[in-house]
Amino acid sequence: MLSTKTIKIIKSTAPILANKGVDITSHFYESMFNDHPELLHIFNHANQKKGRQQTALANTVYAAAQNIDQLEVLLPKVKQIAHKHRSLQVKAEHYPIVGEYLLKAIKEVLGEAATEDIFNAWEEAYGVIAQVFIDVENEMYEEAAQQIGGWDGYKTFKVIRKQVESECITSFYLHPVDQDVIPNFKPGQYVTVRVQIPGEKYLSNRQYSLSDIPGKPYLRISVKRESEHQPEGKVSNYLHDQIDINHELELTAPAGEFTLNETNEKPIYFLSGGVGITPLLSMAKYVAWHNPNRKLTFIHAAKDGKTRAFQEEIKQLMTLLKNGKSITFFSEPKKDDHLHEDYDYKGFIKKEHITEMITDQGIFYICGPVPFMKQMISYLNDPGLQDSEVRYEFFGPAMAIAPV
Ligand code: HEM
Repeated sequence: MLSTKTIKIIKSTAPILANKGVDITSHFYESMFNDHPELLHIFNHANQKKGRQQTALANTVYAAAQNIDQLEVLLPKVKQIAHKHRSLQVKAEHYPIVGEYLLKAIKEVLGEAATEDIFNAWEEAYGVIAQVFIDVENEMYEEAAQQIGGWDGYKTFKVIRKQVESECITSFYLHPVDQDVIPNFKPGQYVTVRVQIPGEKYLSNRQYSLSDIPGKPYLRISVKRESEHQPEGKVSNYLHDQIDINHELELTAPAGEFTLNETNEKPIYFLSGGVGITPLLSMAKYVAWHNPNRKLTFIHAAKDGKTRAFQEEIKQLMTLLKNGKSITFFSEPKKDDHLHEDYDYKGFIKKEHITEMITDQGIFYICGPVPFMKQMISYLNDPGLQDSEVRYEFFGPAMAIAPV
């Protein structure tokens, strides 16, 4: 329990630190990785280069600090981050390391303003915040390991099928080499895939959504090839170019909270951009197979016919649904794309399309690149949809779009 004095210091200094966020975080990771290079096996090096993860972590600590006397309000956010941490095997013993370097950085940036009282208060507060994460994550580790077919840490899977889905997306069907059953997972969840890229000093890992439904004799991930110059694409491109049938990949158990809400029967609207289709496809397939009476509209944005993936699968699931509709927007359609006059649109999704297609309150799931998501979220910020539920997931540190 923190003293009233500590809480007062934390609350009054948190905004100052938040303002100096970038200075603090740029100090912090550099020295941490210098002294603890083993952590580079866990962190996404591309996100490090862009400073996104540092900012995400520090912003969360400041936001938590501002709520230090009522940390329970942050639990939903903590759970979302904890899923990512569990998926990446962040363990309790890592927290003091991050704490040490974050506190050092705070001291350096505040300079003389960092009195002993202030420093001690932050040390104490970090301990309390870290403990909240550690407790939530311990529960998740137990749950993942105890589930039927579940496991702890990384487990080896073999690629049993590699399927090209579009010009840039390829699916990998994965089966555990120990022949254990495939665990149940929630449609929308992801796995972390870890690889040792030849010539790289550290292991690389990325999260990929599971794009098929639970209950299949495999886990399926669908991976987008990125431009060679994008550091984010390093693992994805390695999978495309170097991983084939019978090759092995290491995976952690499914994780994530961007999942299908089955607690009510509200109409569902999926809005996906590019490879953002993957978690939504899993959810849509699940609804089609398990609850075909539910109203479902799948709105997808692709560049052109060649980059549109899963057309056949979506067509098939629409035949299962009693009240299903699938619409695709092509931003740069080619002449031979043969757009269907009822279901295919030319151009970007506009506010008027949303108003026209969305006829009732419902649950909206959005997934795609950040500009796409921001645009969709702004379209849905409409008084007529105020009782709707809007859920979204961005591929990358969550704080890039949703401050705590
Ligand atoms: C991701 C916060 C401690 C490793 C994140 C994210 C946040 C965050 C907000 C982004 C989540 C997302 O993308 O959904 C925190 C806070 C911590 C903490 C507030 C302390 C109280 C740690 C520790 C480690 C760690 C101790 C391990 C040494 C990571 C990694 C990622 C991550 C590897 C993913 C980064 C990436 O994709 O580049 N954390 N974290 N975090 N965190 Fe933490």
